[in-house]
Formats: sequence, structure tokens, C-alpha cells
Amino acid sequence: MQREIPQPPDPGVLNALRFGSDPFRFLEAIQARFADLTEVPLPGRPPLVIVTSPSLAHDALSRPEAFERVPAQGSATRIAENGLVQSEGELWRQQRRIMGSAFTGPRVVRYANTVGERADELAGEWATPVTDGEQRDLHKEMTALTIRVAAEVLLGERLGDDRPREFHDWMQAAGTEFEFSATTLKPGWLPDLSSGEFKRAAGGILDLSEEIIERRRDRLERDPEERGDMLALLLAAEDDPEVDYRENQIRDEVATFLIAGHETTALSLTYTLALLSWNPECRERVREEAREVLDGETPRHEHVSQLPYTDRVYREALRLYPPAWAVFRRATEDAPLGEYTVRDGSAVIVPSWSIQRDGRYFDRPGEFEPDRWERLNPDDYPPYLPFGSGPHKCVGRSFALSGATLALARLVREFDVEVPEDALDDLSVSVTLRPRIGVPVTIRRASE
Ligand code: HEM
Repeated sequence: MQREIPQPPDPGVLNALRFGSDPFRFLEAIQARFADLTEVPLPGRPPLVIVTSPSLAHDALSRPEAFERVPAQGSATRIAENGLVQSEGELWRQQRRIMGSAFTGPRVVRYANTVGERADELAGEWATPVTDGEQRDLHKEMTALTIRVAAEVLLGERLGDDRPREFHDWMQAAGTEFEFSATTLKPGWLPDLSSGEFKRAAGGILDLSEEIIERRRDRLERDPEERGDMLALLLAAEDDPEVDYRENQIRDEVATFLIAGHETTALSLTYTLALLSWNPECRERVREEAREVLDGETPRHEHVSQLPYTDRVYREALRLYPPAWAVFRRATEDAPLGEYTVRDGSAVIVPSWSIQRDGRYFDRPGEFEPDRWERLNPDDYPPYLPFGSGPHKCVGRSFALSGATLALARLVREFDVEVPEDALDDLSVSVTLRPRIGVPVTIRRASE
């Protein structure tokens, strides 16, 4: 029998305001109250549906024909409108087919090895006597590391020293632009009110994407170098009569991957190092494992499987601080979901933040306990969904898991990154979960 979707007791507009002003408290309260889902009516637009049940979450995310991605609107159309993170339907299928092989097998090995080399270089910078005990912005450091790796492995581009830092500033501007607030739930007809700073950031990312494409096109013409990376695959498909690219398609994909390929990973490394700083006994276990396995060497892909505790630490950090805190969809019809019907046009939110902190599914949910992942299988436990689910599940998941394990092992092997207790108290909620202002940390050589 079909059931009515339950609604929170207060009027919809009040709930929208609560969601806008303190999204985490709101989502956790909703999670505690509703076992399956809830519907928040909104004035002048279709309702907001928040899914709280893990099985309904996976069900909705596995049916893109009924629950589609929300097409880019307003500011979002300025960056990578048709890229893989935003596309749906036929375009998405074509793009995933063209690029699919860039994220599996040998490319994962290449990605992990590149992270190992760049983490070694970063450790070299951190180790110089001048920086010992100096304050740095951890999020900026992690952004510089992961953007270098993404550009190198996905696009065949070695970024110099300035570009990664510039990118960090652009991402801050984008984060501010997309910050969740009461007005996020405004009617879609409001004009695009992008800030000047955001327009400059979007322009910078698109210009850089075009530069990278031109350089790569030239290099591919001159010498038949290795062609397995994502950009080479995209350029090769230009000659395929079956392929139908939209205007600026390749540029949109490059911009998408410059962002998606580094941002969540940088955030997850920042959060993991913060949690390790607050849990020194866990940090000591990571260090012992890293010293034994890496034995002073540059980390490589084959080390990943020998670092099970570091992997558990990373998985647990992704549970408490999922960089993609929620996944958003829109119902394309009156769509059945479990015993309920989600109304056509509803905005649907699947919040990994609150599902992953629900005491029904995790003992002591607020505690950082990496060893819970000895008992639970993170790859097959429905309430754990930091990489999403269904056909749009993160294509870079293997990159992130192997690369982050190696980066953490390498850095923790040698350093104590001391993060203030309140460093993550002020997170801004935009498309991702970001520290609003940096994460100032002190870095010290760990004793042998
Ligand atoms: C800790 C790191 C990461 C997290 C937490 C994360 C999270 C996610 C999530 C939740 C989704 C699903 C979005 C949706 O259903 O609409 C997703 C999709 C995606 N991710 Fe990641 N991601 C990470 C790393 C990466 C990396 C390293 C790359 C690129 C190399 C990447 C590229 C993508 C792309 C292209 C999609 C869209 C896939 C599709 O629709 O086919 N991500 N990611």
C-alpha cells in the first residue's frame, strides 16, 4: 500500500530557513525523526524531499530516469555546464564511454605512483629547517598536492608552482558563490547574481582548461606519446563520427576534472589529518604501519594493500566528514520510492553527512573509530555512501582511495601536523563541505 510522505511539524518555509542557516543541525534532526524520508513543502516551488533511509537512498540514486541530476542553473552554468559531474542521459553515457578506461587498471597504478612522488616532494618542502614549526594552511597544501596530481595524470599537464595556489583561491571564490543558505531554496526564476570574484574565478578555470587543451593537442600531433589519459581519449574521439560533442564539450570536461579530480580529495586529506591530530594514538598506529611498509621509500601503488590501518583511518574520516556531504536529484515524474510516491519536480536530497552519523547504523556515531571498518565492509555497507551510488557513483573512487592512503602514510610517517581543536567548527556548506577560511596548522618533524 502506498503511504503519504511524512512532513516535519512546522511550516515549510521555517524548515527551509533552518536548513539554510544551519544545515547540519537541521539534517541531523530530520535524520533522527524520520526513518525513511520526509517532504518539506516550499512556497512557489515543488517540495524538498530528504531521504534518510540507506536502502531508499541507493534505490533513488540507481534510477536516473526517475531521479535525474538537476541541470545547471544560474552561476553553475558558468563552469563546466556539460561536464561529467553535471551531465545526464545520452550525453552522460557517451562521455562515460569515451573516458571510462582512464580511471581503471593501469591508470590507478599511475595515479597512486604519482601521488607517492608528489607527496615525497611535499615532505621535502615541509622538512626544511625553515618550515619546521612554521604555520601553514593545511587545506592549501593539500589542494596544491592533489591539483598537481590530477593535472598530470588526467590531462598530461605538469603545473608549475603558481597555478596550484591560484587554483586554491579560485576554489574559495566558487565555494562562497555556491554556499548553501536560505536563498538556495529560492525560486529558479531569480536572475544570475554571480559575484565579480566568482566570475573571475570561473573565467580563470575555463582559460586554463583551454590552454591545457591547446598544449596537449600540439604535443599529441608532434609525437605519439602515451595516449591513455582522459584528455587524450577525449581528443581522439573528436574524429569518431558516432560521437556528438556539445559546444565546448572538451573544455567543460577538462574544467570538470580539474575541479572534481582534486577538490574532494584535498578536503578529505585535510579532514583526515585533522582527525589524526586530535587522536594521537591513531596517528601513532598510522606512523608505525607507514614506517614498516614504506621503509623510507617513495610510496607506490603496491604499498596500498599493505597499509590496511591507514585505509581504515581514511574511510572513517570520509564517514565523519564526507566532502560531498549530499547528492542532489530531481524527480522527473510521480516516482515510486519504497512505499511512497515522490511528486514530480520534487528536489531530492540524499545527505551522506547525516545518514553516516546515524546511531541506528553506527555505534558511537560521533566518535572517530577507524577499527569499526574491521567489522564492517566499507565497500558493501549501505549506510556508508561517501562516493554516492548507482550509475553516477564516483568514477575517481579508486584514485581517491589508493592515492589518499599513500599520501597519508608518507606525510604521517615523518610529520606531526598539529591542527587546532576548533579548526573544523566553521565549515561552509556549498557543493562540497569546505573550511570557510583556511586550516592553519603547525608542522613538526616526528621523533624517530
Ligand atoms: C574523496 C574523494 C572523492 C569523493 C568523496 C567523491 C565523491 C563523489 C560523489 C558523492 C559522486 C556522486 C555524484 C552524483 O551522484 O551526482 C561523485 C561523482 C564523480 N566523481 Fe568523485 N569523489 C572523490 C574523488 C574523485 C576524483 C579523484 C575524481 C576524478 C579523478 C572524481 C570524479 C568524479 C566524477 C567525474 C563524478 C561523476 C561521475 C558520473 O556521473 O559518471 N571524484 N564523486
